Amino acid sequence: MKTLRTVVITFAVLAVIAAAVVYSGTFNIAADDPHWGITSRTIESMRDRSIARQAYDVTVPSSLDDAKLIASGASEYAEMCTGCHLAPGMKDTEMRKGLYPMPPELAKHGSQRSPAEQFWIIKHGIKMTGMPAWGVTHDDQRIWSMVAFLQKLPSLSAAQYRELAVSREGGHSHDEMASQDESHSDDAKDHHHGDHNSNAEADANTRKPAEQAHDHQTHDHASNSTSELPASVADAAAVVDRFQKLLAEGNTTAAAELLDPTVLIFESGGAERSRAEYASHHLKSDAEFMRTATLKQLSRRGNVSGDLAFVATESSLKVSGAKAADLTSTETMVLRRTPQGWRVTHIHWSSRANK
Ligand code: HEC
Repeated sequence: MKTLRTVVITFAVLAVIAAAVVYSGTFNIAADDPHWGITSRTIESMRDRSIARQAYDVTVPSSLDDAKLIASGASEYAEMCTGCHLAPGMKDTEMRKGLYPMPPELAKHGSQRSPAEQFWIIKHGIKMTGMPAWGVTHDDQRIWSMVAFLQKLPSLSAAQYRELAVSREGGHSHDEMASQDESHSDDAKDHHHGDHNSNAEADANTRKPAEQAHDHQTHDHASNSTSELPASVADAAAVVDRFQKLLAEGNTTAAAELLDPTVLIFESGGAERSRAEYASHHLKSDAEFMRTATLKQLSRRGNVSGDLAFVATESSLKVSGAKAADLTSTETMVLRRTPQGWRVTHIHWSSRANK
């Protein structure tokens, strides 16, 4: 009884003190008066935990590396975001300097958050920071275009940025951005993946049938964790994804072209020591296997040093039907920069069954 009374009184006193602080006006709400360290840390943890949780069930469309989506995101960004987040080649703005917290310079440092979190942040904004909720005035498709663009932004030079930002959606395509796209020839016929991503489908409604078909066919990967990758490795990672995609499409000729002639492939303890050897042995069966499998990327790391890059990916692989399987697979690819672009020079694959 006594403890209860003490607790109640303590709370009452604290409430009175809190009310006194609020009403007296002693709290300095000025944006140029920084928070105490502990206040900042509390706000930051609350913000980070909240964003992680709220964004938990956001589904990332598989089309984030679509060149048109990126270009349209670039012009949205140029129109609405640069005043606070700047852009390549841009000087600091007076608005950004005076905001508290100061908006991160997305052009320089990129965003440390995942595409799902970025989507959530852009759509809903962040309370008491100046970051607006763009979802009030923009549909999900336009917000995803900005997310797609943000994945590219830190790697853009001022000139590349300008070229992208002034081009409107549906305009001519740009070499660098389009290069990842060139494999999307219109031979999208067999839809072997049942797990279409709902966002991507909604997004696809406004686009041309050929592009829609391509979306249906694209794997789920390459979007979830790309933000963990340094921007410099994006092009090499795109080659890795293209290789997978071509295999799954059964396009073994084009897939083999992405391999260095001297490629060394380790798989389940075995080795194939050149492109020719792989092409005459496992390439076909790997393609056949990938054709029936649903691949979902779980994590990816990578980096570039000089003319070499590595891209290490963990995925889940599900095969249904007669040869049903539920696997976790790990893949390390080493790529070499050639005049034709990145080529795979080493692959190590292994997988294990999920219980
Ligand atoms: C009025 C200023 C302002 C404008 C305009 C603005 N933002 Fe922000 N944005 C902020 C601030 C401030 C933060 C940081 C909030 C924080 O630190 O908690 C932020 C944070 C973000 C983040 C999270 C960054 C990270 O890695 O943590 C993203 C992503 C973002 N903004 C995207 C955009 C996009 C896209 C646009 C344009 C559509 C935009 N913002 C327009 C002020 C702005």
